[in-house]
Amino acid sequence: MRILVCPPRHFAVDYVINPWMEGQIGRVDRALAERQWNELVAGFARHATIEQVDPRPGSPDMCFTANAGLVAHGRVVPARFRMPERAAEEPPFADWFAQAGIELVALPGEDPFEGEGDALFQPGEPLLWAGYGVRTALETHVTLGETFGVDVVSLRLVDPRFYHLDTCFAPLPEGRLLYYPAAFDERSQRDIARRIPAERRLAVEDRDAIGFACNVLRIGQHLFLNQASDPLRAALAAWGFETHVHPVGEFLKAGGGVKCLSLLLDQPPFDPIVPSPPSAIRSTRVELEGHLLDTGGLNRALDVVTEAGGSFRVTRLSLAERKDQESRVELHVVAPTAERLDGVVSELMAVGARTPHAERAARVEVVTQVGVAPEGFYSTTIYPTEIRLGARWAPVARQRMDAVVVVGREGETPRCTLIRDLVPGDRVVCGVEGVRVRFPEAKRSGDFGFMNASVSSERRVESTVKEIAWEMRRIRDRGGRIAVVAGPVVVHTGGGPHLVRLIESGYVQALLTGNALPVHDIEHDLFGTSLGVDLARGKPVHEGHRNHLIAINRVRAAGGIRPAVESGVIRGGIMHACVRKRVPFVLAGSIRDDGPLPDTIMDLERAQSAYARAIEGVDMILMLSSMLHAIGTGNMTPAGVRMICVDISPAVVTKLADRGSLESIGVVTDVGLFLNLLAREIAGADD
Ligand SMILES: NC(=O)c1ccc[n+]([C@@H]2O[C@H](COP(=O)([O-])OP(=O)(O)OC[C@H]3O[C@@H](n4cnc5c(N)ncnc54)[C@H](O)[C@@H]3O)[C@@H](O)[C@H]2O)c1
Repeated sequence: MRILVCPPRHFAVDYVINPWMEGQIGRVDRALAERQWNELVAGFARHATIEQVDPRPGSPDMCFTANAGLVAHGRVVPARFRMPERAAEEPPFADWFAQAGIELVALPGEDPFEGEGDALFQPGEPLLWAGYGVRTALETHVTLGETFGVDVVSLRLVDPRFYHLDTCFAPLPEGRLLYYPAAFDERSQRDIARRIPAERRLAVEDRDAIGFACNVLRIGQHLFLNQASDPLRAALAAWGFETHVHPVGEFLKAGGGVKCLSLLLDQPPFDPIVPSPPSAIRSTRVELEGHLLDTGGLNRALDVVTEAGGSFRVTRLSLAERKDQESRVELHVVAPTAERLDGVVSELMAVGARTPHAERAARVEVVTQVGVAPEGFYSTTIYPTEIRLGARWAPVARQRMDAVVVVGREGETPRCTLIRDLVPGDRVVCGVEGVRVRFPEAKRSGDFGFMNASVSSERRVESTVKEIAWEMRRIRDRGGRIAVVAGPVVVHTGGGPHLVRLIESGYVQALLTGNALPVHDIEHDLFGTSLGVDLARGKPVHEGHRNHLIAINRVRAAGGIRPAVESGVIRGGIMHACVRKRVPFVLAGSIRDDGPLPDTIMDLERAQSAYARAIEGVDMILMLSSMLHAIGTGNMTPAGVRMICVDISPAVVTKLADRGSLESIGVVTDVGLFLNLLAREIAGADD
C-alpha cells in the first residue's frame, strides 16, 4: 500500500477557514509539528510505502494531503478547493499525480471537491461515502460514482467543526464503521444505519470525536490516530484492530489529524460496477418571483434548500431596482436522492417557489387500508392549492393544513381529507408533482397593512384593539362571519359580560370552546362565582368549590344548555347570550373535564369535525386564552382567515402567529382587559 504525505516545512496557521483555526494564528510550534509528523510517518513506513510531494511555500495546509484528490485504480479526481486560501495547492498536487503516472479525471463545472477528505471507500466494496454541506459540493458526487464505478451515498455534514467527512467517519473492513453521528443530519444518519447494521457501527463519544479519533489512517489491521479513549481502544481491539496513537496536536490547531496528513494511493481491492451505477442525485429548476429582497424571501428559500439537505446554484438573477418592482431568481436545486428532492421542492413550494414539478400531472396512489395513506402522500398547507389532473388545474376544496388531497373521479373536485377519514379506493396525491400552491401576494410582499403577523407589546394593545374592532365591524356590516374560540379564563378574568356584549351586538357567529367555559359561565350566572371565587369581590366564597358541580348538575337535570336557558335555569351569561342570539356553539371535551355538560362532545374525532364545520367560511377567528382550542382550531383553518390570538403567554401567541399565515396577529395581554377594551371600542363605534 502506498501513502502520499507532504512534509510540514511551511505548515502554520496563517488564516482561519475552520473553527479549529480560530485563535491559533501564529501559534504553531513548527519544530514540534515536524517532530510529530516525522514520528507519524515513521509509524506509517513500518507498514506501507511512503511517497512524498514537495511542499509549496505559501501553502501552509499542503501537508494535509488527504485533500489533494481521491485516488483508486490508477485514477485520481483531483481536488478543487472551496477556500481560495488553498487553491494554490491544486497545481503542485496535479503535477505530482501526473508524474506518478496517475490518470487525472477532471471534475466538470466549478463545484468544489476536497478529495479523500470528503470521500471514503468502504474497504473492499464498490461503495463510496461522500460528504457535502460544508466544503464539497453535492454535484461532484456524480463524477466520483462514474469515475470509480461505485455506488455513492451522499452524507450531509452539519457541524462546522467536522467540516470534512474524514474528521468524523472512518469506514473499516467487513462492512464496519467508526463514526460520530452528531456530525450528520438525521436523514444521513438514517442512510448510514440502512447500510451498516448497528453491531457493525461504532459511534464515538464527544471527547474522542473532538480528539479526532475518527480521523484514522488504516493500514491492514493497524489504525493510526491522534487519540483513543480506553473504551474506544478496547472496542477497536475487540474488532481485531491494533491502535497506534500518534499525537499530532500542532496539526489539530489547523483542524487536521492523522488521516488529513495522509492520502491513500491504493485502495483495498474492489470490483467496480460496470457500467457505473446511475447516480441517486437529482436536480430541478426552481423559480422565485416577487419582493424577494425586501421581504427576505430569497434568504428564506435558500435556507429551505440547505436545511432540507439540498444544494443550489443561482442560474438567473434579475433584481428589482425599486421598491415597487419584483425580483426574479432561478435556482438549480440538487438533492442526494429523488425522495430528498421531493422534500426540498415541497418546502420551497411552501415559501412560494414555482417548480417544473408543478407542470407535470399529479401522481396518484390508491388507498388500500381504512384510515391509512399511501406512504408518499403530499401533505397540505393552509394555502389555496391546485392539482394538475390531465391538462387542467383543479382547485382543492376544504383547504386546511396537515391533510392529504383525495382526487375523485373525472370532473370531481379534489378535496383535503384527514388520513383517518380515508377509505379503500380513495385516490391520494403523492409527491409534489402536479401540485401548485397559491400564496397570497401579501405573503411574499409582506404588505398587509396592520394585519401583519406580529405580536403586540403591552403598549400597543390599545391601538391593536382599535384596529381589530374596525376589522370586526367591517366583517359584520358586510354580513361576514366571526368565530370566537375561548377558554374559561375569559370568565375567571371578568371578561364574560364583555363577550356577552359582542354576542348581543352581532359580532359572534360561532363559539368554539370546551367544557370549562360554559361550566364557569353558568356557575357565575347561578352563584356570582367562577371556580368558587366571587368575581365581584375577587374572594373565594364559603363552600364555593361545589358551585361549578351544582351548575353542571342543574344543566344535566335540564337536559342541556339550551333547555336550561329556555326553562329559565340559566338567566344570563355567555351561553345564555348564544342561545338567545342563536349563535351555534361547539363544546369539545377533554380529559380534565368535570361532568361533563350534556352538550360537551367527548368523542374527539366528532368534536374535531364539529369544529371544522363551525369555522367553514368564517372571515375571522378570535382566539381567547385557550391554548388547547386555539391550536386545535388553527390547525384546521385555511389561509385567508384573520386569526387574532389573545393570550397572556407570549409563547402561545407566537406559536399561533408563526403558523405562516400573515393574516394572524397575536396580542399578549390579559384576556379580561382585552375584551373590556374591545367591547368599549365596539360600543363606541356602534353608538
Ligand atoms: N372543570 C372543567 O371541566 C375544566 C377546567 C379547566 C379546563 N378544562 C378543559 O381543559 C381544556 C383546556 O383548558 P384551557 O383552554 O383553559 O387551558 P389551556 O392551558 O389550553 O389554555 C389556557 C390559556 O390561557 C392563558 N391565560 C392564563 N391566564 C390568562 C389571562 N389572564 N389572560 C389571557 N390568557 C391567559 C394561558 O397562557 C393558556 O395559554 C379545555 O377543554 C377545558 O374545557 C375543564
